[in-house]
Amino acid sequence: MTVTSPICKKMGIENPIFGLAHNIDVMVAIGKVGGYPVFGAARSMPEEIAEEARIMKEELGDHPFGIDLMLPTSVGEETDRAASLKALPREHKEFICKLADKYKVPKATKPTFFSSQIRSQQLFEEQLAATLESGAHSFASAVGMPAEMIRKAKEYGKITFSLIGSPRHAEKAIEAGVDVLVAQGYDAGGHTGPIGTFSLIPQIVDVAGDIPVLAAGGVGHGRHVAASFALGAQGVWLGTAWLTSREHALSEALTNKLLKAGSLDTKISYSHSGKPCRLIKTAWSEEWDTPGAPKPLSMPYQQVLTADIIAGINEHEIEPLIYEATGQSIAWFNEMHTVAEIMERLLTETDGALANMNRLLAG
Ligand SMILES: Cc1cc2nc3c(=O)[nH]c(=O)nc-3n(C[C@H](O)[C@H](O)[C@H](O)COP(=O)(O)O)c2cc1C
Repeated sequence: MTVTSPICKKMGIENPIFGLAHNIDVMVAIGKVGGYPVFGAARSMPEEIAEEARIMKEELGDHPFGIDLMLPTSVGEETDRAASLKALPREHKEFICKLADKYKVPKATKPTFFSSQIRSQQLFEEQLAATLESGAHSFASAVGMPAEMIRKAKEYGKITFSLIGSPRHAEKAIEAGVDVLVAQGYDAGGHTGPIGTFSLIPQIVDVAGDIPVLAAGGVGHGRHVAASFALGAQGVWLGTAWLTSREHALSEALTNKLLKAGSLDTKISYSHSGKPCRLIKTAWSEEWDTPGAPKPLSMPYQQVLTADIIAGINEHEIEPLIYEATGQSIAWFNEMHTVAEIMERLLTETDGALANMNRLLAG
């Protein structure tokens, strides 16, 4: 089943379905069925990015793929995680200890990205250097889009994407010379702005001129893909869709929670990173919203505070607390499938939705 639009030719892909995940097997599977994989490397160290890109290149051959980084300009120069942790407010550290006691969270035995790093401008530069030196065909930036980094990426011959959530952000991205705008609405999993996807896309298309726009946030059915074309987008960009795929193979506790979830089971919370981020609702997000809970810290300090307990929660699968970034589109993912099956379903449904639209309009 092929659904195509001009961006397919521009990017060298068969279907205008772009998929972001932090998992290499998902990336390879998306590429193998003609979509465009974009690896989320924000949680990878520079040397890991080089290795992850090498594997994708080896598996995908000439099929293009991208790498996405989060580059918030609000994050500073501090690189000493231990010193930062020590300096955090006592109230916040006590809250974390109480959570660990209440839910009996054992210590993690293995370090994670966040339990060994503090996000800093130095880390971002090193991640960017590894991305630019890699065989990735494109570079995507989210939560901040320093113009200088876009310029550098273009010097390396990368196609550049920017995830944006408002017309003002789109204008800034266009000024910086971005090649593709990813208009990400409020419905989306992960860090997101306050404008709903349906309201956002046509506003971005109106400022984009000749620059292609992709629709992100809440896309879980082919009817969304067809609606995205109607709103002027050339394709869609999905994150939540892959979480319950067989390739992603998340822990059983988390997968079961996601498979049962509807759109109302997600919420925007500052508890993940200090910035608004749509998550699956669990005891983690709810505890931070109880009266008397401290206000989450700003980025990057919230993750300095929470990294150790989160590592324990994930490693030991502490069911009530385990969570992931999740969009309202989770309502369309109630059974585990392979990435190929998810893509096939979306394309078949898109075809059906476009035919249905034509039937309706024919009277
Ligand atoms: C688990 C998860 C992790 C994400 N991580 C990132 C990320 O690191 N960088 C990024 O640009 N977007 C990230 N996003 C957002 C996606 O790029 C995308 O915009 C969003 O998932 C689209 O909405 P949907 O979740 O309804 O498909 C993430 C989304 C999810 C669900």
